[in-house]
Amino acid sequence: MSEEFNNLTVVKHPLVQHKLSFMRKADTSTGGFRRLLREISQLLAYEATRNLDMTTMRIDTPMEPMDAPVLDGKKLALISILRAGNGLLDGVLELIPAARVGFVGLYRDEETLQPVQYYFKVPDEMQNRLVIALDPMLATGNSSAAAVQLLKDAGATNIRFMCLLAAPEGVKRMQEAHPDVPIITASLDSHLNEKGYIVPGLGDAGDRMFGTK
Ligand code: URA
Repeated sequence: MSEEFNNLTVVKHPLVQHKLSFMRKADTSTGGFRRLLREISQLLAYEATRNLDMTTMRIDTPMEPMDAPVLDGKKLALISILRAGNGLLDGVLELIPAARVGFVGLYRDEETLQPVQYYFKVPDEMQNRLVIALDPMLATGNSSAAAVQLLKDAGATNIRFMCLLAAPEGVKRMQEAHPDVPIITASLDSHLNEKGYIVPGLGDAGDRMFGTK
């Protein structure tokens, strides 16, 4: 748990921090960035799923029968917040291939500056699943808070938010709007600049992973 925010876990594992430093470098290639993002997403997901409910399954090993531990309950739901969430989704799906997947698309209305929904498709029985919302950059927190609200409106009660970088402004916004939603990140960065970019950050995560400008 972070010392500053009680809803925030910063994963300080050396592998996570090492990979993140190479993702931040401005001269890391699109391919390199994407590979690192896939790898780091699996390490973050390891942390985000640390206390999943377990049960046992009766199996026969070659030696003797045993009650072996397995995950309990409905398949969890991974929700990609478009478009950059897809970069985290690929890696997490490799780790949890049976997960159900949903997508939330939001854009910012330039007049009201409020997030507006343009796409929403999530698995059924959201109330019975652990839901992990994926978005690499928790910046102002406005679209993240709106996306989490949409997931709650769809019935989700057990939500975690996984991101690569968080700004204090975004964590605060999420904490106010959704104090029940734990946030898992690789770094709590310094601040947002006047354009809403995380500093020191890594630039525009979507552009860096998809090679757009
Ligand atoms: N979104 C990004 O991709 N980068 C930031 O720094 C902030 C929001």
